[in-house]
Amino acid sequence: TKLLVLHGPNLNLLGTREPGVYGNVTLQQIDESLGRRAQQAGVEVATFQSNHEGQLVDRIHAARAENVAFIVINPAAYTHTSVAIRDALKGVDIPFVEIHLSNVHRREPFRHHSYLSDVAEGVICGLGWKGYLYALEFALDRLASEPR
Ligand code: DQA
Repeated sequence: TKLLVLHGPNLNLLGTREPGVYGNVTLQQIDESLGRRAQQAGVEVATFQSNHEGQLVDRIHAARAENVAFIVINPAAYTHTSVAIRDALKGVDIPFVEIHLSNVHRREPFRHHSYLSDVAEGVICGLGWKGYLYALEFALDRLASEPR
């Protein structure tokens, strides 16, 4: 696997979860769309969702063994709480983009801080589900210029 897309807790509910904030598109539709774009580019992409912090940490560790070149992650609520996910991403030393469907800066103050942003290549937020596609585009670009 070259690219890994990680979805944090509650994102399995996309489509029905607070549609005014997160939209009507389901996680499956997002993953399919990412899969199609990656296939078009001839790049392998894996997607993984978990409601459990440790499973996300384990998946990040596995990414190093699989030689994953780039990670796109929506850590969801763990964005604002998880030193463990930050340390895992730092630990495997795989570049990543942090993404949020909603504009977290326009929401409650507790969503304004991220444990990941200062170690991310970049952050996309507030652009809805297509933010994942924009992040993938960046990753594909990066892969093309720095193949590994
Ligand atoms: C989110 C924003 C987080 O604050 C929230 O906990 C989520 C989703 C987003 O995609 O907008 O679950 O990461």
